[in-house]
Amino acid sequence: MIAIACDDVSKEFPSRHGVVHGLDQVRLEIQRGEFVTVKGASGSGKSTLLLTLGGMQRPSQGRVRLDGSDVYALPPAQRAELRARCVGFVFQLFHLLPYLDTLENVLAGLPPASSPTRFRATALDLLQQLGLGDRAHHHPATLSAGERQRVALARALLKKPPVILADEPTGNLDPANAAQVFQHLAAFQREGGTVVVVTHGPDADRFASRQFILERGRLTEAHAHAQAPKPL
Ligand SMILES: Nc1ncnc2c1ncn2[C@@H]1O[C@H](COP(=O)(O)OP(=O)(O)OP(=O)(O)O)[C@@H](O)[C@H]1O
Ligand SMILES: [Mg+2]
Repeated sequence: MIAIACDDVSKEFPSRHGVVHGLDQVRLEIQRGEFVTVKGASGSGKSTLLLTLGGMQRPSQGRVRLDGSDVYALPPAQRAELRARCVGFVFQLFHLLPYLDTLENVLAGLPPASSPTRFRATALDLLQQLGLGDRAHHHPATLSAGERQRVALARALLKKPPVILADEPTGNLDPANAAQVFQHLAAFQREGGTVVVVTHGPDADRFASRQFILERGRLTEAHAHAQAPKPL
């Protein structure tokens, strides 16, 4: 079963100084239960790819399919519903709500119909596991970058979506916390989830079922690590 697919997806950003090719004819099929990594230099299109896959940025050309739906052919309300149901997104810049505390931010990721009270204990448990047990009632402005990053991860994990798209989820973390983040993503995959993670270092390689490289918007599969061991 295909979780996400891109058919010849391009994204152009016109500017006064010419067109920037954010994505250039990207073709990709990710099966359910895969753990995919995307690497590439700054400006190569990694965030653009994740936002496009997640139904948050309309491509200039091509089609994105998510859970069987042609994402950008849907009316906005249905696209929002698909996103809420199918995708947990860990944004590169966290996108936490400043007026909510840590626990409330995590609960805010749940789809509109779910009851936050029912998930409160699970959310607290998740925060505990991510080393944030004593930060549940702190506001984002008072958290370190790495703490905010883990709140964003907890928010994505709590709703157990079919797909997690994570944009450099360990960019601000020390090695021990970074390893823990990948362990959580791997556990999510073991339960049947699909993971697409943008990352720079080799830490996620051992979990990856496939690895991709972006260069100036062009996506290629890296075969060097094709023999990566299965997740533990
Ligand atoms: N909204 C936008 N308007 C104009 N140009 C954009 C926009 N978003 C991205 N770009 C351009 O598209 C290219 C890819 O950007 P993107 O944010 O996807 O890169 P990235 O690989 O995530 O980089 P980084 O590692 O620094 O986060 C960049 O050259 C950027 O300047
Ligand atoms: Mg980026």
